[in-house]
Amino acid sequence: MSGFNTERVLRVHHWTDTLFSFTTTRDPAFRFKNGHFIMIGLEVEGRPLMRAYSIASPNYEDTLEFFSIKVPDGPLTSRLQNVQPGDQIMLSRKPTGTLVLDHLLPGRNLYLLSTGTGLAPFISIIQDPETYEQYDKVILTHGCRYVRELAYEKLITEELPNHEFFGDMVREKLIYYPTVTREPFRNQGRLTDLMSSGKLYEDIGLPPLDLEHDRFMLCGSPSMLKDTCAILDSQGFKEARHGDQGHYVIERAFVEK
Ligand code: A2P
Repeated sequence: MSGFNTERVLRVHHWTDTLFSFTTTRDPAFRFKNGHFIMIGLEVEGRPLMRAYSIASPNYEDTLEFFSIKVPDGPLTSRLQNVQPGDQIMLSRKPTGTLVLDHLLPGRNLYLLSTGTGLAPFISIIQDPETYEQYDKVILTHGCRYVRELAYEKLITEELPNHEFFGDMVREKLIYYPTVTREPFRNQGRLTDLMSSGKLYEDIGLPPLDLEHDRFMLCGSPSMLKDTCAILDSQGFKEARHGDQGHYVIERAFVEK
């Protein structure tokens, strides 16, 4: 189909009955920045059915990875969740998005604030050595309803700290802060509440937010974004817009699928 590349599914991983990820082949000519999203989809009744997905894999890998929810009556995900290795996926050729390092003013601490599948772009960003070169600390938060939804936990806590090229930077700089709202866990509550109360900063051993040093990327549901932006705005942080760098950037986790 014109306008799209076709790639082949290599692996599928079902995290829970509502979350899965999959890996595809990658056209070597396809370039993107870590944190970008593209349109991906399937051919349904002879037409492309496409939705926006953040690329979860880093841009130096020769495969592409995506993290998705399964919506039982979702036009795309009700189908996409059944893909098998060997199946074909369509991908747009134009990656885009705001969650890229260049959009932020220089700073000391980079907060990657996500809920649900909003984690996806940050899985790419925490595998980018540039992230660690630019920041002293990289704080990855992931808010979920249930513990079982804390996808990629093993990659973050076991594989990346032992990565042969940048494992030492990950061990020194990456702070992973998962939090769960609907069952007991070591960190509990919404990220917004943990920020407002200051518990987040206490738990990770960093000072309260500071305009000079703290930068943010946000990816989650519309309500999570709205509430988190309100907290940042009230402290004087400015969103990067119209090509001007700012203190924070936001992207919706693309949930209507
Ligand atoms: P909660 O269980 O209190 O709704 P969802 O699957 O609905 O997107 O939620 C994913 C996680 O994001 C859940 O832990 C949920 O908490 C949390 N969440 C939902 N809305 C907000 C919000 N406005 N601010 C911060 N966290 C939120």
